[in-house]
Amino acid sequence: MATVTLQSLRKEFDNSRIVAVNDLSLEVEDGEFLTVVGPSGCGKSTTLRMIAGLEKPTSGQIHIGGEDVTDVHARNRDVAMVFQNYALYPHKTVEQNMAFGLRMSTDLSKAEREEKVYETAEMMDIEELLDDRPSELSGGQKQRVALGRAIVREPDVFLFDEPLSNLDAKLRTTMRTEIQRLQDELGTTAIYVTHDQEEAMTMGDRIAILDGGVLQQTGPPKSVYGNPANEFVGTFVGSPAMNMLDVSVANEGDGVVLTNGDRFTYALDGDRGRRVADADLSDARLGIRPENVTVSEHLSGEGVEAVVDVVEPIGSDNYLYLDLGKNFIARVDADLEPTRGDTVEVEFDQSDLHLFAPDGESVLFTDETDQQAVTA
Ligand SMILES: Nc1ncnc2c1ncn2[C@@H]1O[C@H](COP(=O)(O)OP(=O)(O)OP(=O)(O)O)[C@@H](O)[C@H]1O
Ligand SMILES: [Mg+2]
Repeated sequence: MATVTLQSLRKEFDNSRIVAVNDLSLEVEDGEFLTVVGPSGCGKSTTLRMIAGLEKPTSGQIHIGGEDVTDVHARNRDVAMVFQNYALYPHKTVEQNMAFGLRMSTDLSKAEREEKVYETAEMMDIEELLDDRPSELSGGQKQRVALGRAIVREPDVFLFDEPLSNLDAKLRTTMRTEIQRLQDELGTTAIYVTHDQEEAMTMGDRIAILDGGVLQQTGPPKSVYGNPANEFVGTFVGSPAMNMLDVSVANEGDGVVLTNGDRFTYALDGDRGRRVADADLSDARLGIRPENVTVSEHLSGEGVEAVVDVVEPIGSDNYLYLDLGKNFIARVDADLEPTRGDTVEVEFDQSDLHLFAPDGESVLFTDETDQQAVTA
């Protein structure tokens, strides 16, 4: 078990033409499950490969368990990595695949190795497959073997690079739970890379969001969701995505009035209003999550009128596409079923609003106790 600390980590490729990872500092606690998420090409794999020792940082330091391993060979780092494509040896049996790492990294006897492999195979429910070769296995079984091979080594740190991407949706959900359970039982520090924000949110004790090689925010999933540090995080995390509207901002009294074209004005007062007034903006981006849009079929004149473009039932709820903006979605109870073309009334609660400055930084970012915002 170990902490993992990254200090100002940087990785350039192609004679510095590509900066894959830019000034990344991050601390992973002993036994923590950290998910790292971001769009394709944002530097997730490169970060993981540097921690594993498969890629040498251009600058910065990596500590594992308090020890500076920046210049330590991959073989001598006590980490086990699991890849999307399983990376099993095709000509070795499952048992040989699992035992191989043990033979390389420990001085256990053959009998001891066999016992460990069998124990782990039982834990992963693959003991029936020990004599099979990878080509005889399904994708799910291969990934179990790859996980088993990582677990059997009892490493200080697990590194997962999109290990479930090749599996179908149902199997992915099962394996997610299983990986979490195993990590919890073993108490091994884990860093889990995915481009799937839902996977990152459901699996991580903490989530780190990367964009363009730069860390955007870290924090517990719920707090990142409720308090995104910038527009990128706000719209990347959550599905359907946070609705965004352009507004102009005018100071009024202690607070501000937000105006969205000729559609609506919205007064923001109290502490939140003061915060926005202090930011001294003339334009901003207003963010509101689909589940925070209250929709009523009764037109009282209190809220904003909107026309329903599309009604999309998802079983438990309905998604209403409203003409307030491009792909503006309200998530409402399944029993609220207007028809296309109906006019409805929409209201937002002050406490649910997000507001971002033109540079993308949140001006209502308050919760600094359990997350660190990193300015791009
Ligand atoms: N060996 C390499 N040589 C040159 N450029 C590279 C190399 N490896 C990665 N890159 C570049 O570095 C950037 C980050 O790549 P990386 O593989 O870390 O992204 P990623 O977040 O894992 O993406 P994905 O979700 O597609 O796996 C990309 O622009 C990529 O093209
Ligand atoms: Mg990758």
